[in-house]
Amino acid sequence: MLALPRPALLLLKLLLLHIPWAMRAQVNPAVCRYPLGMSGGHIPDDDISASSQWSESTAAKYGRLDSEDGDGAWCPEVPVEPNDLKEFLQIDLRALHFITLVGTQGRHAGGHGNEFAPMYKINYSRDGTRWISWRNRHGKQVLDGNTNPYDIVLKDLEPPVIARFVRFIPVTDHSMNVCLRVELYGCVWLDGLVSYNAPAGQQLVLPGGTIIYLNDSVYDGAFGYSMTEGLGQLTDGVSGLDDFTQTHEYHVWPGYDYVGWHNESTTGGYVEITFEFDRIRNFTAMKVHCNNMFAKGVKIFKEVQCYFRSDASEWAPSALSSVLVLDDVNPSARFVTVPLLHRMASAIKCQYYFADAWMMFSEITFQSDAAMYNNSVAPPVVSVVPTTYDPTLKVDDSNTRILIGCLVAIIFILVTIIIIILWRQFWQKMLEKASRRMLDDEMTVSLSLPSESSMFNHNRSSSSSEQESSSTYDRIFPLGPDYQEPSRLIRKLPEFMPEEEEEMGCSSPVKPSQAGVPEGVPHYAEADIMNLQGVTGSNTYSVPALTMDLLSGKDVVIEEFPRKLLTFKEKLGEGQFGEVHLCEVEGMEKFMGKDFALEDLDASSNHPLLVAVKMLRADANKNARNDFLKEIKIMSRLKDPNIIRLLAVCIADDPLCMITEYMENGDLNQFLSRQQTGSPHTSHEPTISYSNLRFMATQIASGMKYLSSLNFVHRDLATRNCLVGKQYTIKIADFGMSRNLYSGDYYRIQGRAVLPIRWMSWESILLGKFTTASDVWAFGVTLWETFTLCREQPYSQMSDEQVIENTGEFFRDQGRQTYLPQPALCPDSVYKLMLSCWRRDTKDRPSFHDIHHLLQGSASEE
Ligand SMILES: *[C@@H]1O[C@H](CO)[C@@H](O)[C@H](O)[C@H]1NC(C)=O
Ligand SMILES: *[C@@H]1O[C@H](CO)[C@@H](O)[C@H](O)[C@H]1NC(C)=O
Ligand SMILES: *[C@@H]1O[C@H](CO)[C@@H](O)[C@H](O)[C@H]1NC(C)=O
Repeated sequence: MLALPRPALLLLKLLLLHIPWAMRAQVNPAVCRYPLGMSGGHIPDDDISASSQWSESTAAKYGRLDSEDGDGAWCPEVPVEPNDLKEFLQIDLRALHFITLVGTQGRHAGGHGNEFAPMYKINYSRDGTRWISWRNRHGKQVLDGNTNPYDIVLKDLEPPVIARFVRFIPVTDHSMNVCLRVELYGCVWLDGLVSYNAPAGQQLVLPGGTIIYLNDSVYDGAFGYSMTEGLGQLTDGVSGLDDFTQTHEYHVWPGYDYVGWHNESTTGGYVEITFEFDRIRNFTAMKVHCNNMFAKGVKIFKEVQCYFRSDASEWAPSALSSVLVLDDVNPSARFVTVPLLHRMASAIKCQYYFADAWMMFSEITFQSDAAMYNNSVAPPVVSVVPTTYDPTLKVDDSNTRILIGCLVAIIFILVTIIIIILWRQFWQKMLEKASRRMLDDEMTVSLSLPSESSMFNHNRSSSSSEQESSSTYDRIFPLGPDYQEPSRLIRKLPEFMPEEEEEMGCSSPVKPSQAGVPEGVPHYAEADIMNLQGVTGSNTYSVPALTMDLLSGKDVVIEEFPRKLLTFKEKLGEGQFGEVHLCEVEGMEKFMGKDFALEDLDASSNHPLLVAVKMLRADANKNARNDFLKEIKIMSRLKDPNIIRLLAVCIADDPLCMITEYMENGDLNQFLSRQQTGSPHTSHEPTISYSNLRFMATQIASGMKYLSSLNFVHRDLATRNCLVGKQYTIKIADFGMSRNLYSGDYYRIQGRAVLPIRWMSWESILLGKFTTASDVWAFGVTLWETFTLCREQPYSQMSDEQVIENTGEFFRDQGRQTYLPQPALCPDSVYKLMLSCWRRDTKDRPSFHDIHHLLQGSASEE
């Protein structure tokens, strides 16, 4: 009965669908700054305790920042003495959190109170038994607190804390009455890592005599010959710089960011690190941020062997071993991703083998299957739902009370209808806001990076202190929309967006959303986004509503296929509502549409045909089913030699299936990775020629030309989404996001969309605009991948945050943006084409028609 408006549904899907692929990148301290629920009430009273209380009305539960309940704050029984720190206010967060910021406030109580804590310390614990005193990067424990009873004082925790329990310990320099209200800011610690044990880091003496200290200076466990039972620099969210002798500005001595070891200091040629987790997890990957200054004898590891253990049992005998390709060309520090192949464990022991004299790590993060713990961690659901439901529940409640008095059934029905209308309006508003938020969030990501502050400088200078307060607000609560007061948000948006458009060089202040978008292609947020990959993940093709109508005019017959003829071969990927399988099938011809040219397929030969089968789980909800059917409708109309075809469907009974082509050589990324480069280091002849590469690129351009002619926006063009057949034929598909293999290519904005940021144009990242022109940008990156033979990820030397930062540089266009370098195999003309795909103004980028023409032309030249 409650049909939500369509855009709302689509948006909900955007928010919810992506949860299972919580292939989260490493935690970003600049983004992870959500209020954790003292002020918002998300933390229940029972989880707040204290050493003592002065009275019932100053109990621990009243220690909530910005709340005036009770007598206005938590106050301990007796005054706090300078040398006797026994009073504390304790918060149990019920799960490990990454805490980056704390806020304190005294007791004001409408002018009656005048108590506050001038200083305080923080103690924290992960298990509730071992307590650790927080220290800043210079070893100082005491934080400056309040100077009056009403102002909120916020302090960044540098380094951040990973804990479940946190204690605020008031500190004074003379005996005084103290009261406290507090808040913690951060996010759920999805890694689940509780401690790591590693050999102590060492010192490197440079030829000039400079000593580089590679110890783990913020390790919070026991220190000795080795480090045990703690967390430290490898989990502080700060990646080291390319040059290990340089440090981020707040750091104290050279080498601060890295923990490093010398090969002579260990036996066996490896460094062994043991990681303990909060519970048994299903691991997908480990990402290790390594230095690679090979000129100074530092390299990433050449091999890693990992052992797994569940609970207290023995280490499982079967180790997982990964051999890495060393890089003697690029000295940048980088994240190395090691797939952990869904091994289940509560502890992992890895041996990292030296490739050179030194090995230096600055971060190690783990990705484990989020679907395993969807209750405890799913930030968007947990946090979006309360804010949207709470108010409505209250409306409902009060009305019910009135109704009990009235006892009139008709009125009851009328009121119910009114509630429904209000509820719908409320939802619509919330979702509208949420959609702008998503957009806004992406802005805030970049805004919250220090060097990005100049991006909207004019904003700040153009208005008064009002603006300044809202920018402070941004800094404290970036990406914390779920707890944000809507009024602040509304205030912020109007001044943000139009200015934004101006900056983009839009000529007249017409409809803001139209700027820079080609005719007829609506803005992302307005487009009726057709979620073609709804079942398994990516929202791949977006289809303007207009085009949909045109398309739905024709009738296309897709044959029903008897599913028993499918032979399962392997699982390609999966998502919340379905899976993609690689299957073999015989006798496909009989079931395909009559206009289908068989030569297109491999079926002409004797061996069975390979197909990809996308399946909707039987328990999928109605929306997922509708999307699946819609996807079939759209797919059935795409007919191009360079686009994967829908062959047949099984929709007569559950589970619903669609059968698409698959190509014998798998995806282009893997295909190219298997090729020999023929570089000077190897004696091999290259196995793939320049003309083959160009031929493949031309086909991708041709397929995209077809899609763009239909106004289809692919949104995830990359080599992982192109399939390779015989003789280097290419077809564009859309499996990318549903495959674990490529999880590292997607960046998860805390609790929100999962995005292939390294392929995305600046306007897609910053403004959420996906157009044919942003597909052109992605094509440029795909072209680059092709000519590097997929040897590395685009911008592999940059962290996800740096990629987003670089996006800001593309936006500003002041010559500070970093472009992907010219690949060795790539002639100048093709590199020039790539660069033109990455032009700032969408209208300056070539069309797929031009690109195709150009690539074809360069073919005939040679
Ligand atoms: C790490 O090295 C620095 C520089 O010598 C030293 O000041 C610091 O105390 C060391 N940290 C630990 C935890 O050993
Ligand atoms: C781990 O997760 C993957 C993907 O969700 C699943 O296929 C696999 O069965 C899980 N492993 C175990 C042991 O549950
Ligand atoms: C350490 O690395 C250096 C440089 O690669 C190498 O010459 C030396 O043999 C290595 N030592 C050990 C013990 O492996």
